[in-house]
Amino acid sequence: MSDAASFPHPSAWDAQTYADDFSFVAASARDLIEWLGPQSGEKILDLGCGTGALSATIAESGAVVEGVDQDASMLALAAREHPGIAFRQADGQALRVDAPLDAVFSNAALHWMPDQDAVVRSVAAALRPGGRFVAEMGGKRNIAAILAPLRAAMAEAGVPVAQQPQPWVFPSPAEQASRLEAQGFEVRRLAYFDRPSPFEGGMDGMRGWLQMFARAFSAVCPADRWEQVVRAVEDGARDQLFDGERWVGDYVRLRFLAQRV
Ligand code: BEZ
Repeated sequence: MSDAASFPHPSAWDAQTYADDFSFVAASARDLIEWLGPQSGEKILDLGCGTGALSATIAESGAVVEGVDQDASMLALAAREHPGIAFRQADGQALRVDAPLDAVFSNAALHWMPDQDAVVRSVAAALRPGGRFVAEMGGKRNIAAILAPLRAAMAEAGVPVAQQPQPWVFPSPAEQASRLEAQGFEVRRLAYFDRPSPFEGGMDGMRGWLQMFARAFSAVCPADRWEQVVRAVEDGARDQLFDGERWVGDYVRLRFLAQRV
């Protein structure tokens, strides 16, 4: 079984804070497991498993689950919390498996992988014919009400839009369906929908969200300007996303069940 020492790469994530304050990410996608329909004995890979919460739920079906993620601290926490499940470090854009899988599952992870064609190609190669790829990710217009003031404030802080990071890919339903079909999948189900997502932390919820998820931006922002960027995002998004008590992120989900031909 894996432990922290098995994941030597530096970590970009604060896994414990993610588990404590962002558990809504896994909780809101539990019904995605109904799309997966795991069966006892099936070999299922959870791609971008994070702290392993959904890997553990899938394993309750009797399926043999392996969780993979790129992040060392997420994997270390997953291994501690779910000692009966195998976890390993891997890049979804270049998966390697010992034997063909029955299914690949993924929640809120694919949009962090820049080469989406490579992801779909590597998942196709990992599946047996008839195997399922079931995933949910951010879709087109995801977090638009956060990104617009974030990009504007970063420019104001001295980082022009052209030099700002592009940490996420949020495809439209048509783009993702074409990508899947091009790699030999049949798209059996697809849904594209808004999921307003309340952040923990009351008035400080947007600040906490930015601290957890927008590190690519804070990393290139002059340190003495980051506070100004956070406040500008709060000001720019308040009318749309603050309900008087908490921040509610404008998440847009793209969910699919695709079968390898
Ligand atoms: C998402 O799950 O849609 C998401 C979370 C953090 C940053 C970007 C997107």
